[in-house]
Amino acid sequence: MDHGRLPTAPDAGTDDTMELPAVDALDWSAVTAALDAEGVAVTPPLLSPRACEEVRALFDRDEAFRSTVDMSRHRFGSGHYRYFAAPLPPVVTALRRRLYPPLARIANQWAERLDRPRFPGTHEELTAACAAAGQLRPTPLLLRYGPGDYNCLHQDVYGELTFPLQVAVMLDRPDVDFTGGESVFVEQRPRAQSRPVVKRPGQGQGLIFAVHDRPVPSARGWSRFMLRHGVSAVHEGQRHVLGVIFHDAP
Ligand SMILES: [Fe+2]
Repeated sequence: MDHGRLPTAPDAGTDDTMELPAVDALDWSAVTAALDAEGVAVTPPLLSPRACEEVRALFDRDEAFRSTVDMSRHRFGSGHYRYFAAPLPPVVTALRRRLYPPLARIANQWAERLDRPRFPGTHEELTAACAAAGQLRPTPLLLRYGPGDYNCLHQDVYGELTFPLQVAVMLDRPDVDFTGGESVFVEQRPRAQSRPVVKRPGQGQGLIFAVHDRPVPSARGWSRFMLRHGVSAVHEGQRHVLGVIFHDAP
């Protein structure tokens, strides 16, 4: 697979040499504790303000994307998102490859608790497993919300093979570039009412959360808490987010 550069992506480097010091320095025990407590972990900034601006600017470059979704047409909400075409921008490939191994350790702990198949140790191996299952289209995406735009509660499941954790990186500054637009999560617990969780990540910060469900200790071992995510309406300005989903789509 060729992970070449987009021709004019500034300062992008190549995915294997790209420095992502904040990703390398992530406190994974804190991430695991937050996931266990709430199903959502907020990281320190993963990308610099400049890197956020560069990724955000890609939204208007048609050649970087394989498809565009108008959320209102599908009644998913309001606003647009665009799926990156292969080869992905180097920063997206780098985030996928570098975040994946520690996330796979968490995913495999979850798999053990829920008696599910395990995941490979590297993202290259996951991509190969997706390809073997007919999931060949990349799923990382860029989302843009303007005034009044929102995203209905949903789950990013595309095919048979679903990696159970995903990451969203906030590219704009809350209360400076936009107002409103909170990240909303609703956790559905067995035999209980659903619990809302609201997060307001700053520019560059990542949200790590369950794609579908996660194990929670119960009287008889482990039970599953289902998670859906969405975005409340943006009041003013524009809100951009980079969605990093690890499995590919059919
Ligand atoms: Fe999503």
